[in-house]
Amino acid sequence: MEDFSTQNKTFLCSEVQRHSSSYQDTGGTGSRFRLCQQSKYYKVLHILLTVPFKTHVMCQREIEMVMSLGVTPDRIIYAHPTKPQSHIRHACASGVDMMTFDSEEELLKISTCHPKAKLVLRISVDDSKSILRFGTKFGAKLQSVGDLLKRAQELHLNVTGVSFHVGSLCTDSVAFKTAIADTRQVFDQAKTLGIDMRLLDIGGGFVGRTDWLISFEQMAKGINEALDEFFSSDSGVRIMAEPGRYFVDTACTLAVNIFSKKVVQSDPTQSNESGKCLDKTIMYYVSDGVYGTMASTIYDSLQFTFSPFLHKRVEEPTYQSIIWGPTCDSLDRLTREFWMPECDVGEWLLVRDIGAYSLTTASDFNGFEKPQIYFVATAQTWEILSQHFF
Ligand SMILES: Cc1ncc(COP(=O)(O)O)c(C=O)c1O
Repeated sequence: MEDFSTQNKTFLCSEVQRHSSSYQDTGGTGSRFRLCQQSKYYKVLHILLTVPFKTHVMCQREIEMVMSLGVTPDRIIYAHPTKPQSHIRHACASGVDMMTFDSEEELLKISTCHPKAKLVLRISVDDSKSILRFGTKFGAKLQSVGDLLKRAQELHLNVTGVSFHVGSLCTDSVAFKTAIADTRQVFDQAKTLGIDMRLLDIGGGFVGRTDWLISFEQMAKGINEALDEFFSSDSGVRIMAEPGRYFVDTACTLAVNIFSKKVVQSDPTQSNESGKCLDKTIMYYVSDGVYGTMASTIYDSLQFTFSPFLHKRVEEPTYQSIIWGPTCDSLDRLTREFWMPECDVGEWLLVRDIGAYSLTTASDFNGFEKPQIYFVATAQTWEILSQHFF
């Protein structure tokens, strides 16, 4: 048997292109919000850059990366509210003018390093409808907005709009509605100070996987209704969104190899029920884990589903299966209540919908390698890419 024991493989496919098209269908044409996208992977960026989206970046390296792919600085928003001074200077030298802030300290740095920047005030909004909450780390409280805007005026800085992020993995469009209502207050407050804001950036939080609690289409409907209520289409305010996860969620399938296995006998007198065998629990040790591509198991509380590759049939009996990642740490556990047919050492398990915050956050802790990436594209996606880049 060939030894694949430390190998993982990830397949990134035409899903990015599919989502980019459906985003345009849902959010781009009949509706009010335009896209500002981000991705670390060049091939993903290639696909997304075939449409005239803006790009949101988090640091100097990301600015360099997207500009090396031909994105002009006017299509970039530096969306991190707290930035190292040197990165602000680099943005200025590169012509990247649009950037966010949420504190007086940030205003002071920007007034020194990029005084002509077009600033977007990131406000703190109710993030309780999201799994990953950002409110404790970023965003100016509504009570402090007046003082911040006045400070920006004193420093002769140009505040052009407002942004928020309802948190990642958002479960309810009401979060956007509340945040959009808050934003309306900020626009009104700015107006009383003589500041004419023209941009509303509704951030990310959208989910691309189909088994999520709310579909992208339902989310978009709720957002569009809220926009119509608080920012009429003749308001002159440009609306922008920053989906991250949405584009890449379903783009990757991970293949992990079982390199070790232990059978733990349970009570043999226990009866089996509905195809579930209760007489043993099986522990598997696989080639990738929470310190690699599946960190979301811990920090997003996401449970991935492992499917035995190819030959297991649905009618085969299933066993309680504890799947462990390869490292020495017992935190590196990938399943809780999970049942699957018995597999053997050397077999592969597939994990779908693993495109978001996976490869980007993977480490090589304990020396276990990150997955090899194989790009898979339909003829149509390949054709589109060829027209733009090759
Ligand atoms: C400022 C900003 N915009 C957009 C995103 C993308 O968020 P999501 O992946 O939830 O769509 C993030 C993620 O951290 C972010 O910090």
